[in-house]
Amino acid sequence: MNMLVQLRDWVDARLPIVRAWDTHMGGYYAPKNFNFWYFFGVLSLLVLVNQLLTGIWLTMMYVPDATLAFASVEYIMRDVNYGWVIRYMHSTGASAFFFVIYLHMFRGLLYGSYRKPRELVWVFGMLIFFALMAEAFLGYVLPWGQLSYWGAQVIVSLFSAIPFVGEPLVEWIRGDYLISGITLNRFFALHVVAIPIIILALVALHLLALHEVGSNNPDGVEIKKYKDENGIPLDGVAFHPYYTVHDLVGIVVFLMAFVAIMFFAPEMGGFFLEGPNFEEANALKTPEHIAPVWYYTPFYSVLRAVPDKLLGFIAFGSSVAILFALPWLDKSPVKSIRYKGTMTKIIILAFVASFFILGYLGGKAPNPERTVLSQICTVLYFAFFLLMPIWSRMDKTKPEPDRITMDGGSLGATLLGAVIVAILTVFPIAITEWLHAVNAAAAH
Ligand code: HEM
Repeated sequence: MNMLVQLRDWVDARLPIVRAWDTHMGGYYAPKNFNFWYFFGVLSLLVLVNQLLTGIWLTMMYVPDATLAFASVEYIMRDVNYGWVIRYMHSTGASAFFFVIYLHMFRGLLYGSYRKPRELVWVFGMLIFFALMAEAFLGYVLPWGQLSYWGAQVIVSLFSAIPFVGEPLVEWIRGDYLISGITLNRFFALHVVAIPIIILALVALHLLALHEVGSNNPDGVEIKKYKDENGIPLDGVAFHPYYTVHDLVGIVVFLMAFVAIMFFAPEMGGFFLEGPNFEEANALKTPEHIAPVWYYTPFYSVLRAVPDKLLGFIAFGSSVAILFALPWLDKSPVKSIRYKGTMTKIIILAFVASFFILGYLGGKAPNPERTVLSQICTVLYFAFFLLMPIWSRMDKTKPEPDRITMDGGSLGATLLGAVIVAILTVFPIAITEWLHAVNAAAAH
């Protein structure tokens, strides 16, 4: 033991590991009122580690060659010892990643976590989100199934909408005149090396920026305002051991759900692993219906809602990019939803419902009625952000408390919110599908 302490001190005299631990764990004071929503940051870290480790193991057996890739995945699934576990951990992990990230981002919206002084935490988060979307897209191409191939075809050719440079750019991305083994090789390099390095660097910056200003919390109050004589925030607790132990609860619950899905529903009825991707890529046979995986569908809907190719591409890019501006669009005098007025609550519920509807429509084949609904929801989606400077000022807010309240939040209000979102989501979809059935019957 003594030797270990000596070794630690020897290293610490040369590399400040003890100071780093103290700054970010034992001496990092986090607000003492973190709730359910605050589990998703640490869960994102957990899923990130899962993706990195299982990814490294998959890379040992996967072959990035157009003639062998599909078979190598089958080999991993059938012949490699526990290969199927590793692959399902990775494929389920991809969906889990987006699930926890979306909830993590939504928490930011609920409690105004992107507001001053946490703008950079949000911007780094958004860069991570962007990188994550690229990472998942590139990874999806690797098994070289029908949807890998045609999904890549659709997404890469989107860039051809850019005036003048569009066509040469698409050729440059593909490295060929069509998606081919050359494309597969470069996507493999980007998926296993380049983007993971970028994501890791961004996560480090995200957490450094967060720890510089300190965490926000469900009350949206700054705990650094009130400190004791030792400079310790009165409303804070040391991250380690209090939150490390607390987070273990979230991790265990999450892992139970994760392994249940991984073992019993890894394909999730075609949502996590899609049917046509069990068929090898064939450049001569277009699948009947090309839809992206669930986590892209809201943005894909925005793309399809706009009839013009270039404008659609711009709308698609803007639907993600506009999230970067959130810290500067929100003008509310308070951060947390707890102190905002009914108007903000209704607007947020309508926004979530339109996001869900866009998600539903993005996974379905388009028809005229669905297109109209996707156009309405696209307008609502953008209006939420573009009009935010106006509606966030108009809202009747309650005064924010000075100190943390330790109010657990209202489960009743959360459930009511969920029910309203469900109604706002299902109702327009049901009407649209009914209208389509009526119109289709009339046309026959
Ligand atoms: C690999 C992806 C990510 C990881 C590992 C990660 C990790 C974390 C962790 C550990 C925290 C502190 C715990 C917590 O507040 O939940 C945090 C806070 C935060 N993250 Fe992320 N994050 C990721 C992506 C994102 C994204 C995509 C966004 C938004 C665009 C985002 C926005 C934020 C914000 C605003 C906070 C501060 C929240 C507060 O103090 O209330 N993060 N993140």
